[in-house]
Amino acid sequence: MKKQKLLYEGKVKKVYETDDPAFLIVSYKDDATAQNGHKRGTIEGKGIINNKMSNLFMQELEKAGIPTHFVKELNERETLVKKVSIFPLEVIVRNLSAGSFAKRYGIAEGIPFPAATIEFSYKNDALEDPLLNTYHAVALGLCEQEEIETIKRYGFMINEELKRFWDKRGITLVDFKIEFGKDTAGRILLADEISPDTCRLWDQKTGKKLDKDRFRHDLGGVEEAYGEVMKRACGQV
Ligand code: TMP
Repeated sequence: MKKQKLLYEGKVKKVYETDDPAFLIVSYKDDATAQNGHKRGTIEGKGIINNKMSNLFMQELEKAGIPTHFVKELNERETLVKKVSIFPLEVIVRNLSAGSFAKRYGIAEGIPFPAATIEFSYKNDALEDPLLNTYHAVALGLCEQEEIETIKRYGFMINEELKRFWDKRGITLVDFKIEFGKDTAGRILLADEISPDTCRLWDQKTGKKLDKDRFRHDLGGVEEAYGEVMKRACGQV
């Protein structure tokens, strides 16, 4: 399938049309942003790592019964995906307290929850992605009730798969953000990416943060951390 015109350039990815309207090509950049775009930088080689890692997870999750947008990795930065209409929702699953959860409720990071939690925010840069519940999402017309129930079910299933994957590699999956879309047949597919940009990953031995928090909070060693998770996930850097 041939790459055609640039459809959209986001903060960390470019999306191209192809000669088939049912498919898109996603191209991963090394750009990094945080604080809703207020902090910007570059993480050398990140696009390659995120492309590879995300594709690995999409294929693993397909095997576990979760439909995804993944079709084929084209080269180190580009992947062919099914075109979906993205629900303007960030779906966040958490196993331990960290980030905005710890801040919002005034608790320390690293407290394990008795059971995984899920939350949603409305993808809207101007409003800075406010939190919403499932009733609000339906009230705003962002999705239907059954759709959000499916999204929730997939969210917890994905958590179980990813938690197991990382645990085998000596890493605790603290939390992650995913996005879903709908194809023309109305099927809900996991879309966007799953990578150290969108997950919190802590080394089980040392507690070291091996994810984008190193960039968000200027902890240093960002490229090394991405390289380390890539090595553990795929056995290569
Ligand atoms: P938070 O604690 O800042 O709400 O983040 C929870 C998880 O979601 C964390 O793994 C980072 C990820 N995340 C994104 O990938 N994109 C975002 O825009 C936000 C707010 C969080």
